[in-house]
Amino acid sequence: MSAAAPHPTSSNAHLSILRFSTAGSVDDGKSTLIGRLLHDSGNVYEDHLAALEANAKKAGSTRVSLALLTDGLKAEREQGITIDVAYRYFATPRRRFILADSPGHVQYTRNMATGASTVDLTIILVDARTGVIEQTKRHAFIAALLGVPRIVLAVNKMDLADYSQDRFDEIVADFTEFSAKLGVREIKFIPVSALEGDNVVERSGKMPWYGGETVLEHLESVYIAGDQNLVDFRFPVQYVLNPTQDFRGYAGTVSSGVIRAGEEVVVLPSMKRSTVKAIVVPGREMRGEKRQEASSRDAIVIQLSDQLDISRGDMIVRPKNVPRATTQFDAMMVWLGDTPMDTATRYIIRHSTREAKALISNIDYRIDIHTLGRIEAAPLVPNEIGRVSMSTTTPLFLDPYQKNRATGNFILIDPVTFLTVSAGMVIDRGRSDAPGVDQGEETDHNLHHEAALVTTAEREARIGRKAVTIWMTGLSGSGKSTLAKAVERTLFNDQLPVFFLDGDNLRTGLNKGLGFTREDRSENLRRAAEVAKLMNQAGVTVICAFISPYAEERKRCRQIVGEERFLEVHVSAPIEVCEKRDPHGLYAKARKGEIKNFTGVSDPYEVPEDPALRIDTSTASLERSVEEVVALALSRSAL
Ligand code: ADX
Repeated sequence: MSAAAPHPTSSNAHLSILRFSTAGSVDDGKSTLIGRLLHDSGNVYEDHLAALEANAKKAGSTRVSLALLTDGLKAEREQGITIDVAYRYFATPRRRFILADSPGHVQYTRNMATGASTVDLTIILVDARTGVIEQTKRHAFIAALLGVPRIVLAVNKMDLADYSQDRFDEIVADFTEFSAKLGVREIKFIPVSALEGDNVVERSGKMPWYGGETVLEHLESVYIAGDQNLVDFRFPVQYVLNPTQDFRGYAGTVSSGVIRAGEEVVVLPSMKRSTVKAIVVPGREMRGEKRQEASSRDAIVIQLSDQLDISRGDMIVRPKNVPRATTQFDAMMVWLGDTPMDTATRYIIRHSTREAKALISNIDYRIDIHTLGRIEAAPLVPNEIGRVSMSTTTPLFLDPYQKNRATGNFILIDPVTFLTVSAGMVIDRGRSDAPGVDQGEETDHNLHHEAALVTTAEREARIGRKAVTIWMTGLSGSGKSTLAKAVERTLFNDQLPVFFLDGDNLRTGLNKGLGFTREDRSENLRRAAEVAKLMNQAGVTVICAFISPYAEERKRCRQIVGEERFLEVHVSAPIEVCEKRDPHGLYAKARKGEIKNFTGVSDPYEVPEDPALRIDTSTASLERSVEEVVALALSRSAL
């Protein structure tokens, strides 16, 4: 047994690197598989093996427990040190490997998710006897969600399934059916026995029906060079190096893209421009060892031509290709905490080298792991996956994970225990691009959000208040517009930037031509909500007065505007009162059948179940009603 050097040496530094992770349920044999891989590929040190052999002898066994080879982290675990992921390095003459390993079997989903976010490939183990189980699906889904381009499904314990081809084929068929919706580029099935060493490194004589590669052969030969994002240059600053008066550089690892000396860059969030003076090899700064170019995953130190104020968490990018700087975004996340998600907690969000406080402002839906369909929204419980909206205290520099894995994923940390409670992936607003989930409306890929130089948070800081949307819903004649205008007047007098929107003004301009069919009302309200959202982003509080008769449409408006800004007010005068008021004689016409689809007469009004406020204008005075709405607005707009 040779003691191969796992780290790069002068002789293997030229080899390509494959990063991979493993996933499986507790007893699927993950440790044994890794142990077998290390052992049979000559990556175990003589003394380590001798110690294990002695141990085995003492226990009266002739067989070395390969699982023990992978338990190097046991000591840390026993000391209670939290390690989400540990990296194990090994090499063969053909390739170098980095295995993102999850110590222990506790919280394997958490470890799987955090370990898998940067890997080229994930090996998912299934027990040949049990086949594809819920955990297998969950792991595959998370891998797909994290953008892992390829999966190896290692069907383990074939020795306990009589090395049966039928059993293997059955599992392949099962998983193929499930994974068709996942969008993983490449899935490879390998029948193995980690314990017996079949098809891990050496080909097995016991499964002559299998003519494919062994696990190691596959790991050594799979083509990965095409995976890298070489387009979007992203360099999150890890720390500022200032060893001497004359040297100032920014250290970090290139997340994606390519950069060359002499190129123009822009620094987020300041948006200050400069050029790359030099790219320096870390640790060799003072010796002046430079390189002309660096790309994805290279650890480098960048020197700029100008003296700029840059700190950890800033990001250096190209001026014409900037990520979105934002405090609001949508994400798919897997909940990894031991307790359910809490929408009142300010979690710590870690994205690239930046940290902020984050609130889960809305839960859109959860995923049924068996069907990959959507199920109704509720706080995620451990291991659950769902789509949420997030808001953060300071802007993050985000890319959708489908475009850029490195800057499209984040983790949430519990502010009290400091444990990782979630791994999330940024998704395009208005688009559901989670694997397996129905594609929503396609956004035009030729549209690119240029990061604004002024953020909503800055505008709100200047105004001293957060902008909100007060959404008044109720029958025609219920008094929405009267109340809304009076509220607008009061808030305006209080120096707040505020604007009133209703059907009568939008329908004569932006929404001209829309009528009162369900579709037209839906479009009317969608546009109204989009306008409100824009105004809110500009720092302006908006008071909307729309009948908005359907609960589902109101829910969609809430999602467009954002849960934390949207305040629903039900203006709830009884229909008899509304009909008696009938300012424009519309009820009368509707009763005569002259107006079709008239809400309350010939079209339904769905009463809001849980509005932030309900006001009956047939009993409350206008003055009193205004006070209540203003109080609500002010309480929710405090910064
Ligand atoms: S919504 O249903 O799409 O929310 P919106 O609030 O914009 O309606 O417009 C309602 C106003 O349009 C009413 O105040 C009324 O003046 C007028 N209107 C005309 N036809 C109808 C109808 N069929 N149903 C309700 N309102 C109507």
